[in-house]
Amino acid sequence: MLSAQAIEKTAAGRVPRHIAIIMDGNGRWAAARRLPRAIGHRRGADAVRRAVEGCIAQGVSVLTLYAFSSENWKRPADEIEDLMALLRIYLEREIDELDRNQVRVRFIGDRGPFSEDLRALISEAESRTRGNGRLTLVIALNYGGRAEIVEACRRIARDVAEGRLDVEAIDEAALAARLHAPDLPDPDLVIRTSGEQRLSNFLLWQSAYAELLFLDLLWPDFDEATLAAAIAEYQSRERRFGGR
Ligand code: FPP
Repeated sequence: MLSAQAIEKTAAGRVPRHIAIIMDGNGRWAAARRLPRAIGHRRGADAVRRAVEGCIAQGVSVLTLYAFSSENWKRPADEIEDLMALLRIYLEREIDELDRNQVRVRFIGDRGPFSEDLRALISEAESRTRGNGRLTLVIALNYGGRAEIVEACRRIARDVAEGRLDVEAIDEAALAARLHAPDLPDPDLVIRTSGEQRLSNFLLWQSAYAELLFLDLLWPDFDEATLAAAIAEYQSRERRFGGR
């Protein structure tokens, strides 16, 4: 849990409305302990719980987590199976607690390739928590930022071809309205763990003005204190949007 000190410190400034996290380093965490990668991912799922609890405690409105990128299909089949199993377990076991905590669960990305049972769990989690308003937890699954933008372009082209949209009316808002979760605010803070300093195709459109924070710790070590420190760092930066 958060120390009283950490809560006091972060309460002093503006809390980011939307935090997005590239959860990286599960494999390295496991390798450093000579454990199988699957254990690293399992500890990563524990860190997901802490991130969610931390966001609730801090008053963050939206938390987006990069759980499975469209690139992750290149991993060995058994690792993909481990990740799917973890996700299934997370959705089965945590949904009551998430619902009790007024967390709304949503998914972005192409869920088409996932198994029918996983897709059913995803839909159930979304419909069951639809009315919750304390925190929106967005899980990016089989997600890629470029693919999302391409899909939005296709929707625009279709709307133009079918007479619903004028070419002159195509602007940033028109594209943003055709992304996967157009009603959500853009991320204010994007965090990546494990020391890597890349966006890796995550929320490319939405992160245009986000503060980026690259942390050296590995994802399984992420906890409420890490989140509080990240928010404090965000508060210490002066946000300068282009043109101001
Ligand atoms: C990156 O570590 C992590 C992932 C590819 C998957 C993230 C998944 C989880 C944290 C668990 C399940 C998620 C939820 C939402 C319950 P890596 O394997 O790339 O680590 P490495 O770069 O050190 O090898």
